[in-house]
Amino acid sequence: MATTSSVGEYSWTPELLQIRWQDGALTEHCSLWLRDNCAADRDPQNGQRLVDIADVPANPRLRSVSLAGEVVVVAWEDEDRTATFALSLLAQQGRRGPHYRPEHRVRRWLDGAGLDPRSDFAFRPFAELERDAAARLDWLTRLAQDGIAFLSGVPRTDHAILAAGALMGHVAETNYGLVFDVRSVASPENLAYSDLGLGLHTDNPYRDPVPGFQALHVLIASPDGGDSLFADGFALAEHLRASDSETFERLTRTPVPFLYRSKDAELYSETPLIGLSAAGEVQAVHYNNRSIAPLRLAADDMRAFYAAYRRFAMLLREPRFQMRMKLVDGDLVVFDNQRTLHGRTAFSSARHPRHLQGCYLTRDSVFSRVAVLRLESRAETVR
Ligand SMILES: [Fe+2]
Repeated sequence: MATTSSVGEYSWTPELLQIRWQDGALTEHCSLWLRDNCAADRDPQNGQRLVDIADVPANPRLRSVSLAGEVVVVAWEDEDRTATFALSLLAQQGRRGPHYRPEHRVRRWLDGAGLDPRSDFAFRPFAELERDAAARLDWLTRLAQDGIAFLSGVPRTDHAILAAGALMGHVAETNYGLVFDVRSVASPENLAYSDLGLGLHTDNPYRDPVPGFQALHVLIASPDGGDSLFADGFALAEHLRASDSETFERLTRTPVPFLYRSKDAELYSETPLIGLSAAGEVQAVHYNNRSIAPLRLAADDMRAFYAAYRRFAMLLREPRFQMRMKLVDGDLVVFDNQRTLHGRTAFSSARHPRHLQGCYLTRDSVFSRVAVLRLESRAETVR
């Protein structure tokens, strides 16, 4: 909790408040931002803003600023109103940008081959997560940061994955159902439902939005083949940006069509293989050779795209970037489907049946679950 003792010194002009904190950081708060964030302009129950920017003075000028306990008290020229701002809010707003939420601090892992999923990632018993909110918060935060996490001891019963999914967020139903079975069938509508090995990919780029997180629960592991493969798409994309910026740029700029067609679904979406945020950060990777549809580009762009696409595909095949593991009965893996690529080695269902159940979770619901747990844990600490 920031208080006046956290403040080294402060100064202000009619346009700007500057605070030098005891730790040496300087934060700046312009008058218009302060005026637009008055608590009096928000609904006291739900916190939603009651005014639009057009209702706020275009050039509000600070008339007075003073410190009092844990708040700054501000008044403006030509208005009677005063407003208070928690010092903790100003400390946070002024210096940490969008990344002050722990779950948004991405921890990239490039060389997956050198990692042990049981020690390098969050890998905890399902029963522990069910009974312990602190363990759940830690596990979910690491899932968000690493893009992958694991559970053990999930009951090997039909649809038990939904009980695990309920701890993480909202399960999303698709044309594959609320839960889908990953096992070999005759005439599969998706190659995932065969014995074939699958190269690293993300699921369903033909959807809009694409599935946020994917969970896979092992009901019957194959002792012979069917190993799981994972790679960090964000780390690979950054590796590509650093080593071959032209290819990287091409993959961020070329919309790629993806298509899925079955007797009851026709799903089509266009998206670049690497998606960037407004700040230029990698925020999505979409890669699925099985569902990429014929591209429609001018010849020069087509050649350039294919070269870039091949370069990225070759990166995905490099063993050093792949974390390979054998999930066992009752294990569950969940991963960020807009970041973490997954695949598997081939297996023989004739020799050994292999059966996983999967589901998708909306991306925002997982991040929401982390944030709510964090707020609840802070309330517990204060209580
Ligand atoms: Fe998949």
